[in-house]
Amino acid sequence: MAYATFRSIGAYVPKKILTNEDLATMVDTSDDWITKRTGIKERHIAAKEEFTSDMGVKAAELALLRSGLAKEEIDMVVCATISPDYFCMPSTATVISAKLGLKNVTAFDISAACTGFIYALSIAKAFIESGMKKNVLIIGAEKLSAITDYSDRGTCILFGDGAGSAVISATDNKAEAIIDVHTGADGEYADLLMTPNGGSGSAHDALEQESSSCFMQMKGNETFKVAVRTLTKDVVEILEENGIQSDAIKHFIPHQANYRIIKAVGDALKMKEEQVVLTVAKYGNTSGASIPMAINDIYESGRLQKGELMLLDAFGGGLTWGSALIPFSPK
Ligand code: UT7
Repeated sequence: MAYATFRSIGAYVPKKILTNEDLATMVDTSDDWITKRTGIKERHIAAKEEFTSDMGVKAAELALLRSGLAKEEIDMVVCATISPDYFCMPSTATVISAKLGLKNVTAFDISAACTGFIYALSIAKAFIESGMKKNVLIIGAEKLSAITDYSDRGTCILFGDGAGSAVISATDNKAEAIIDVHTGADGEYADLLMTPNGGSGSAHDALEQESSSCFMQMKGNETFKVAVRTLTKDVVEILEENGIQSDAIKHFIPHQANYRIIKAVGDALKMKEEQVVLTVAKYGNTSGASIPMAINDIYESGRLQKGELMLLDAFGGGLTWGSALIPFSPK
């Protein structure tokens, strides 16, 4: 049987920085409020002419380079995004494939909001274990600034842009294998976090849509409570099911939505400070890109070493959630 291994990581962050002080000039908020309630200090914002695919390409180029594979060896590209280049088609994954010069690949996007990277991971794992694919490029890329309402202080303080990417490859060495990936969803909570207009379910005629119609809306406090409850249950389950104690986790890498959510789940798992990876202060919430951006951060700072066990978790619109247990296995 083929196993799936997490072979390399890469990320890209756009240059422009939007600080809490900048936001305080745009809406009724303050650095103090944002810092205390979210842990966020700043986020990066893509240039007008910089698309989600452009950021995805930059992250993927790094992941490809670090994988040691030739681009001809990539046989599938999966992009997790809620801010695709185009509304319906082509998918951002196909745009990225073309920009990278990848031929003969299966390419598609998935929509699982902030859990998108973990969903992409589960798809890559399943395709590889079934023998259908050998080297899958997965990408989480978001230009959330394009779907953020900068007059809504409940959401605009949270989100930023960026991309992360990983190469998942086949191996026959079980010690290198991704141990487990959990994914879940409950559409009953769909209205907590959504872009209510702009799709076929919208009450408006397409021609009457205003450009603001695709902005995100969130019931923040309710989302917060469901996030803590659902994530805690899911990470406890994935550890129990695999017989792993939380002290065996070298890096707990949660979706970077809010420091208080990360702290609550980390405390429930009795995680020590040095186990928890935090990038929320400098990137804010980059949805599907946040986990691979965080993995790349500890990789580039030399904190992530071969064989070390990572626990990922994420929660987002849908509602969706997921977790994963992965030994880092670079070539
Ligand atoms: O990424 C996937 C899923 N997303 C999340 O997990 C995000 C989850 N939610 C959150 O992170 C938090 O709920 C927020 C950061 C969005 C809000 O924090 P909160 O502690 O839940 O605040 P709240 O919504 O309960 O609001 C408390 C007060 C309200 O004022 P009153 O009614 O007490 O007078 C809000 O109007 O804070 C006010 N408020 C603000 N004040 C200053 C809300 N947003 C702001 C703001 N600046 N930006």
